Amino acid sequence: MPTMAIPLILAVFMAPIIAMAANHTSASLVTFIFGDSLTEVGNNNYLRYSLARSDFPFYGIDYPNQKPTGRFSNGRTISDIISEKLGITSPPPYLSLNHDDDAVLKGVNYASGGAGILNETGIYFIERMTFDDQIDYFENTTKVMKKKVGEEAAKSLLHGAIYFIAMGSNDYINNFLQPFLPDSRQYTHGEFLGILNLKLAKQLTRLYLLGARKMIFLGLGPLGCIPSQRAKSSTNQCLDQVNEWVIQFNSKVQKLINVLNVKLKKAQLTFADTYQDGIDMIENPGKYGFKVSNTSCCKVETTVGGLCLSYAHVCDNRSEYVFWDAFHTSDAANVVLADRFFSKLFATSNSSTNSSSYHMG
Ligand SMILES: *[C@@H]1O[C@H](CO)[C@@H](O)[C@H](O)[C@H]1NC(C)=O
Ligand SMILES: *[C@@H]1O[C@H](CO)[C@@H](O)[C@H](O)[C@H]1NC(C)=O
Ligand SMILES: *[C@@H]1O[C@H](CO)[C@@H](O)[C@H](O)[C@H]1NC(C)=O
Ligand SMILES: *[C@@H]1O[C@H](CO)[C@@H](O)[C@H](O)[C@H]1NC(C)=O
Ligand SMILES: *[C@@H]1O[C@H](CO)[C@@H](O)[C@H](O)[C@H]1NC(C)=O
Ligand SMILES: *[C@@H]1O[C@H](CO)[C@@H](O)[C@H](O)[C@H]1NC(C)=O
Ligand SMILES: *[C@@H]1O[C@H](CO)[C@@H](O)[C@H](O)[C@H]1NC(C)=O
Repeated sequence: MPTMAIPLILAVFMAPIIAMAANHTSASLVTFIFGDSLTEVGNNNYLRYSLARSDFPFYGIDYPNQKPTGRFSNGRTISDIISEKLGITSPPPYLSLNHDDDAVLKGVNYASGGAGILNETGIYFIERMTFDDQIDYFENTTKVMKKKVGEEAAKSLLHGAIYFIAMGSNDYINNFLQPFLPDSRQYTHGEFLGILNLKLAKQLTRLYLLGARKMIFLGLGPLGCIPSQRAKSSTNQCLDQVNEWVIQFNSKVQKLINVLNVKLKKAQLTFADTYQDGIDMIENPGKYGFKVSNTSCCKVETTVGGLCLSYAHVCDNRSEYVFWDAFHTSDAANVVLADRFFSKLFATSNSSTNSSSYHMG
């Protein structure tokens, strides 16, 4: 598998923001999270007919009280760990809140397993909150905030908040890479990427118009190496074509973000690329304290979904595995990824007058 060093743009202003926030008390930093199963903290538990759920054992086996919460992990998600590092409580799922909840003033998590940038992504999960849905709900939140604290205070709260956006994996895994779905038959990858890019541009612009300024977009990891994709190779190898598409997606979004930072005058968008970190962790698991990166800890049947079902066999030592199930990294791997993400934000903080692009790894 070729290891490609791809340049990464992290707008340098994010680092001081986060550095300061990390040292403040929890009251001062508000985060809003948009995403899929990699960042969900339980919205889909409230969607009665959703098939994208994880509110049953062995999910949460390493979460406090061994509780399955709807996180697609044996323990914490990457968004939980980012919150811990910021010294704040991981924001609650939007659907767990009362319509008029004071909690919205402290941040909300809209992420939903199966969600994608495109509406049609993840259609076979029946119910999930697509990125459009998540932005609709965020719009609701902004109205509630304005009612509670007034137009001006709400605006300044919204401008000061940090927005984490982790979207796009499902547009591949649960859309373009599914040969029976129309998008994979109708479009070349180049065309599909163009559609994703246009849609994402609209979505990020809409968030901006609703008051979001400091937005961090988490790039895609090496999807070609997740167990569900490896299973399609007769020799259990990473799928190079899929990884190539992911690299193209990341590069396209990075460019889009540069354009939007110019177009939307007060936007402070950042692209955070964890692709190389993911590849390194998979190719050199020992370097990070892992033993296995080519299969999941929970022995899943990739032909029937790939989630960790209640009757599955779970490995003895979950910390030795990069992957928890066929799609999702383990709590231990999420710690590594969140660490890398943070150290990079800080690494750029000194060269604020310099080019913000550098190589990872
Ligand atoms: C953050 O606060 C701790 C003490 O609570 C202090 O030791 C540290 O230097 C501070 N870091 C920054 C970046 O201000
Ligand atoms: C996608 O869904 C959103 C929210 O339900 C809706 O507003 C929008 O029109 C849909 N877009 C397309 C292209 O179907
Ligand atoms: C959005 O807000 C309206 C009232 O402003 C409320 O009736 C509706 O339930 C909210 N939707 C969600 C999903 O919270
Ligand atoms: C995973 O890699 C190890 C070598 O590190 C190999 O022995 C094992 O067969 C591989 N497992 C699968 C499922 O490919
Ligand atoms: C489990 O694996 C981790 C990481 O490799 C290791 O640090 C720990 O000692 C192991 N625990 C046991 C009980 O073997
Ligand atoms: C950043 O700058 C400060 C002083 O300006 C210096 O002490 C520190 O070592 C620098 N950090 C890095 C990572 O270059
Ligand atoms: C910017 O970084 C390059 C190397 O990455 C270095 O050569 C150059 O001196 C730096 N410029 C400034 C203004 O720090």
